[in-house]
Amino acid sequence: MTSTFTTPPGGAAGAGTAPPAVTALDVTKVYGSGDAAVHALRGVSVEFARGAFTAIMGPSGSGKSTLMHCLAGLDTIGGGRVLLGDVEITGMSDRRLTLLRRDRVGFVFQAFNLLPTLTAEQNILLPSQLAGRAPDRAWFDQVIDVVGLRDRLKHRPGELSGGQQQRVACARALVARPEVIFADEPTGNLDSASGAEVLSFLRASVREMGQTIVMVTHDPVAASYADRVVFLRDGLIVSELHEPTPGTVLDGLKSLGG
Ligand SMILES: Nc1ncnc2c1ncn2[C@@H]1O[C@H](COP(=O)(O)OP(=O)(O)O)[C@@H](O)[C@H]1O
Ligand SMILES: [Mg+2]
Repeated sequence: MTSTFTTPPGGAAGAGTAPPAVTALDVTKVYGSGDAAVHALRGVSVEFARGAFTAIMGPSGSGKSTLMHCLAGLDTIGGGRVLLGDVEITGMSDRRLTLLRRDRVGFVFQAFNLLPTLTAEQNILLPSQLAGRAPDRAWFDQVIDVVGLRDRLKHRPGELSGGQQQRVACARALVARPEVIFADEPTGNLDSASGAEVLSFLRASVREMGQTIVMVTHDPVAASYADRVVFLRDGLIVSELHEPTPGTVLDGLKSLGG
């Protein structure tokens, strides 16, 4: 299943001069105010390369989900800047942000968020349909083969296993050829075998289709599928690892003392 894949526009791996897919510059985020203020992000600067699979790790409450939401334009930031490619999203109107997310960003969440009355195929094609875009059938076919869903396309979510449902959610994100996919604990509801399936597929989409993925996880095994791991503690990035293994990730987590 290798070598026949084309690289999506905007997702070219290894293009030396291309800007990172996502850039955060000194991003801060405070929830609440006064005595109740929670400083969820305290000045995060980080770049996510195109065509790379990056995991964000850290103890519970360290700001992982907050960072992902701020990078994806799902939440506003208190200070600093966020760029998607070379487009600054800081201060964009809600309407422009909505369009930008629709056209350039994909999401995979812990809950699969599939529509129960639609088949797998209809779920996968729904975002393009809502955006008024004709689906690219050749690309759809490539994605379906990578996720291994060919014989499940006519099934409804209730007729699929958890792992298959999450693969449908991944396919739905990929079919739109987003510049980046944000995944928050995508294997959090899966047993380890189904989790491994989904993670292998996410990695294949990076290696074989040039996809960019930023994944939040607290699981060292999940993180070891990534090319790079960044560690958050108390709203700050404190270290990072390249070519992680479950062992080096575990050591990294231990050294956070979280
Ligand atoms: N909507 C919110 N209102 C108030 N505090 C929040 C909200 N969301 C997150 N927090 C707080 O911000 C901090 C970071 O949370 P979060 O980003 O969810 O961490 P993680 O995903 O690493 O577990 C935590 O202290 C959390 O309690
Ligand atoms: Mg979280």
